[in-house]
Amino acid sequence: MVRAQEGEQLIMIKRLYYYIVAVFLFLSMNEKQLDFIISLHTKLHRQGPGSDEETLKAIQITGLNALTALKILDLGCGTGAQTKVLNNNLNGNITALDLFQPFLSILEEKINSKNVFAFQGSMEDLPFEKKSFDLIWSEGAIYNMGFENGLKYLHPFLQKNGVIALSEITWLTNERPAEIETFWKNEYPEIDTAKGKIKIINESGYQLIDHFILSEESWLNNYYGPLEEELHRIEMEDSLDDELKEIVQSYQNEIDLYKRFKEYFGYGFYVARKVN
Ligand SMILES: C[S@@+](CC[C@H](N)C(=O)[O-])C[C@H]1O[C@@H](n2cnc3c(N)ncnc32)[C@H](O)[C@@H]1O
Repeated sequence: MVRAQEGEQLIMIKRLYYYIVAVFLFLSMNEKQLDFIISLHTKLHRQGPGSDEETLKAIQITGLNALTALKILDLGCGTGAQTKVLNNNLNGNITALDLFQPFLSILEEKINSKNVFAFQGSMEDLPFEKKSFDLIWSEGAIYNMGFENGLKYLHPFLQKNGVIALSEITWLTNERPAEIETFWKNEYPEIDTAKGKIKIINESGYQLIDHFILSEESWLNNYYGPLEEELHRIEMEDSLDDELKEIVQSYQNEIDLYKRFKEYFGYGFYVARKVN
C-alpha cells in the first residue's frame, strides 16, 4: 500500500480544493485546516458534482456491460458514490484509489463487496503494471494531475482498446463575464469548452466515444446543497476560530459563484477509447 508523505498530502489537498478554497492556494495549510476540510467532506455522500444517473449514463456510453469481467480503476474515488454505481452495474474488480484514508474508510463501510479494493495512494504515482485496466474512471478528480497530463499519464495503464471516463470542469459558452473568466483562468488555466477538451482527448491517444454535461441538480442538489447544510450546521454548533471561519467563507463564496454563473460553466463527462 502506497502512503503519501505528510508534506505531499498538504500539497495534494491544496490542489484538491484549489477551486473550492482557492484562497488557501496561497497560504500554507496547517494540520488543523486539513483535518477540518477532510472531516467536512467525509460527511458528504459526494465530494464533487455528480449523480448515480449520470454515472450510469457514462457507463452506458462505454459500451461495456456486466457480461465480461473487467479490471476497473476508480481514481480519486472519495467516499465512493460512483464506485458503488460501477460495482452495481459492471462485473469484475474495482480498485478504488484515493489520497486520503478517511474517505476510503467510508467507502469500505458504504460498499461491502469482495470485488472492490480500497487503495490509498496518489494518482500521479500509480504502482500498477502497464495495461492493468480495461476501464479507468475518474469523477471530478483528474484536475489534480491536470487533464492533458492525466490523459497521457494514464494511457499506458489501459489495455488495448481500454476505455477512460472523466468528468472535468468545462465552459458551457464561448463567451462569459470577465469576473468568472478571470476567476477560473487563475484557478484552473486548463478550463476549456467541450470542443477544446475533446481535441485534447483525441490528441492524447484516445478517440472520444461521447460526452455530456452534468445537470445543475448534480451540483446543487447532490453536492452544494448537502455541503451548504453541513456548513450551516458547523457554524451553528461548533466554535470556529478565524482560520476555520475563513475556510467556511471560502466554500460559501464558491457556492455563490456557481449559483451566479452556472450558465457559463459546468462539468463535462467525457468517455473515450484508447486507440494506440
Ligand atoms: C472533487 S473530489 C471527487 C471525489 C469523488 N470522485 C466524487 O465525485 O464524489 C476529488 C478526489 O480526488 C482525491 N485526490 C486528490 N488528489 C489526489 C491524488 N493525487 N491522488 C488520488 N486522489 C486524489 C481527493 O481526495 C478527492 O477524494
